Formats: sequence, C-alpha cells, structure tokens
Amino acid sequence: MTESQLPRANPKAVPPIVRGLRCAACGTRVEVATPLTWRCPNAKGNDRHHVLLIESDVAPLRRTKHTNPFIAFRRYLAWDAFAVAHGMSEPDRDALIEELDARIAKVAGTGFVFTPFARADKLSDALGFSLNGGVWVKDETHNVAGSQKSRHLFTELLHLVAAERLNLAPWKSNARPPLAIASCGNAAFAASTLARALEWPIKVFVPEHADAALVQRLRDLRADVVHCPRRSADPPGDPCVHRFREATASGAIPFGVQGPENAWCLDGGRTIGWEMAYVAEHMEPPLIARLFVQVGGGAFAASLAEGFHAGGTRAALHAVQAEGCAPLALAWQASAKYPTAVAAAAHWRECMTPWAKTPQSFADGILDDETYDWVSVCRAMRASGGSPVVASERYVREAYELAHRTTGIDVSPTGASGLAGLLAARDRVADDERVAIVFSGIRRETPKPA
Ligand SMILES: Cc1ncc(COP(=O)(O)O)c(C=O)c1O
Ligand SMILES: [Zn+2]
Repeated sequence: MTESQLPRANPKAVPPIVRGLRCAACGTRVEVATPLTWRCPNAKGNDRHHVLLIESDVAPLRRTKHTNPFIAFRRYLAWDAFAVAHGMSEPDRDALIEELDARIAKVAGTGFVFTPFARADKLSDALGFSLNGGVWVKDETHNVAGSQKSRHLFTELLHLVAAERLNLAPWKSNARPPLAIASCGNAAFAASTLARALEWPIKVFVPEHADAALVQRLRDLRADVVHCPRRSADPPGDPCVHRFREATASGAIPFGVQGPENAWCLDGGRTIGWEMAYVAEHMEPPLIARLFVQVGGGAFAASLAEGFHAGGTRAALHAVQAEGCAPLALAWQASAKYPTAVAAAAHWRECMTPWAKTPQSFADGILDDETYDWVSVCRAMRASGGSPVVASERYVREAYELAHRTTGIDVSPTGASGLAGLLAARDRVADDERVAIVFSGIRRETPKPA
C-alpha cells in the first residue's frame, strides 16, 4: 500500500466519550447501546459480586450554559451515548431531559439545577482554617427530593424512557412493569418522586418497622409500600433486599442507588462531581486538596469522585463512615494486597465483608452493612492518594451541630456526616488547605437529642 492509499483519518471523527460498560469483577464488556443493562450478565441469581462500571474519557471538562446539569454535561453521560447509538437526535435528547425535568418539577417543586458550592466562612473559621484555606460546601439539600439521590436515579429514568420511546423495551408505555427499590430513606423518597412524575408504578420495600412519617410521604406519592418482616425461611441479610430481588426476578425494574443492582445510577451521580470540579477549576489557587464524602452503599462517593477527578484536580478522596458501621475501611485494608482495586474486585467475598454487628449511628442514612460500590470508591481513593476515615459517634453529632450553628443549611445528620470525617482528620489537614464536603440531604424531622 502506498502512502496515498492509506485510509485518511477523518478530521471530524471524534472518539466517543463513553466507550461502554465493563464489569469490575469479571471483565465482561457491555456495549453502551445495549438496552436495559442494569447488571453484569454474569451476575446470576442473587450473586451481586459484579458491577458494571462506565468507561469514559471526560477531560477536558466543559459545560454548556444551561442551568440543568444533565443538559450542561449531557455529552458525558452514558444514557446520552445510549440514545445516540440508536439515532436519537441532539434536539430530541435535550427535549427528553427537559420534558422529564418539567414533570419532576411539578411533583418535587424544583427540577434539576446546579446546586450551590461555596466556601463556608464561619465553618472554616470555627475549624481554624486560614483565610486562604477552608471548607467548601456543596449544598444538595434543595436538590430534587431533598438529597443527591435523585441525580443517580434520573439517569436510570432517562435510560428507561429513551429505551421505551426507541421501541427497545419489551413493554408498552400503558403496561409498564413496576419499578422497585429497597430503601427506607432518601433513595426511596427520590425514587417515588421520579416515578410519580412519570406515573410509573413503583414498589418500595421497607423494613417492618419503617418510620411512619416516611411511609406516609411515600404513599402520598402513590408508591406501593411493602413492609418486609423477616420470614423464617429467609437466608441471612436484609429481608427488604430479599423481597426486592424477588420482585426484580419476576420482572420489576431495579430502581435503586447501588451500582451492582443498577449500574446506571453511577452515571448521573457524576453530575455532582462535575459541578464541583467546574467551580474548583475556575478558582484562584490553591486547589481543593481533599474531598470528605460520607459513604453508605458507596455509589455517591464513587460517582462524585469520578466526576470531580474528571476536572483534572486529583483531590484526595476520604470516604467517611461512622464507627458504628464501617465496612469500607476493612475492604480498603483487605484489598490493599492486590495491585489495583479493580483487580481486587475478583476477590469480592474476601475483600468486602458485611458489617457483622447491628449497624448504628446518628447518621442513620449510611448504615449499609455492605459498601456495594467499594471497588469504585477504593479505586478513586488509590488514584488520588486518599484513604477512608472512620468517624467516632461524637464527631458525627458534633458535625451536625456545627453545620447548623455555622452554615444555616438545614442538613440532616447523614447529610452532615462527611464533615465528621474532616473533624476526625483535622489534625492531619493543614490550616491553609482547601477541602470540600457535601451536605447531601435535608433534615426532615428533628433528630433525637444526643
Ligand atoms: C443524605 C445522604 N447522603 C449520603 C448517602 C450515602 O450515599 P451512598 O449510599 O450512595 O453511599 C445517603 C444514602 O442514603 C444519603 O441519604
Ligand atoms: Zn461480571
């Protein structure tokens, strides 16, 4: 072949930002074009020791001027690549987001907008930071449904509705299978809010003694709330999860915020990190050096860190858990002998041991006995020189009290628990460092006093 016969590089051919999904545990690749790919195809039966991770190259991070982060960062999202692969036009993709967002706003009182991210001056002073250093707080308390959970669920919903409209779903829009989630907190509320907006039936599996006020809020959103007492024939583990898995095995769509149950939650969760990175990139130096992020199941910290690191700053991720439920710190140690966190994923059972005691903390939204998304959280901590922080209960309570005293943000104990990690690590953080935390959920009722 002469040089003139070589195929010319097409100057317009831009490599795709989202390359596909790949299971961390078994390496199976799934095309981004494949519809309804919630789990790794090898995650058979009740095996959830697989997780599909989105492979994408986001840098350099750019946004459009749109106030909705799902539109401003649309081209980085996997659901968007899915819709592109099936020929949905750009105006149609934007229109789909706008349509669903408007419906959600009718139910939730707000649609998706960039949430505030700014230096908390009184908090920074209270913690002894210099004027140059300090604590930047991302305030998610006024996000859709009062927490960050709706960001994760919105890309699941976009994938679902896009699949339906592209005739890729095996149901008609007037005979949809129900959505399903096992949760008794913010995730259940966010999932029910989004489901209500689309009038999509949803089953919410809650503990036998779930908080009555939450159950009422879910019923007000027309969710089918299913109480789940332990049955004598149940294997060990959470009965809500058993009932949820039975429902999904009989056709319900997993609509929760755990990567191994539905990988598409990891897509939209990144918008929070992109929003933060976009502000951080445009700050006068020094850069934000650390992120303290509360971890329950881990999807939040995993996607936030992935989003933030796309901005090019390698702020160290510190995954924060409360001392009464800290399985991630154990997984961090157990996986250290493997060359990478993804290599450790093949040894899931050995690395991720569910918390043996009854999980307990004032921050009751991060009491998952297993950190389902431990692989991505450990990967982000390794890549950024971070580490887990286990905060004592005293710090968890102090963080809540300090947040209310200094910021005026009506955050919940769980939402403030990333700050507990900063309190626990404060003597290792220099006074002129900049750190970021997320107040991830609004207070719904007055927590019981200490
Ligand atoms: C307000 C709030 N912040 C953080 C988290 C932790 O998120 P994840 O379970 O994805 O680690 C939760 C989970 O319920 C939450 O409700
Ligand atoms: Zn797999």
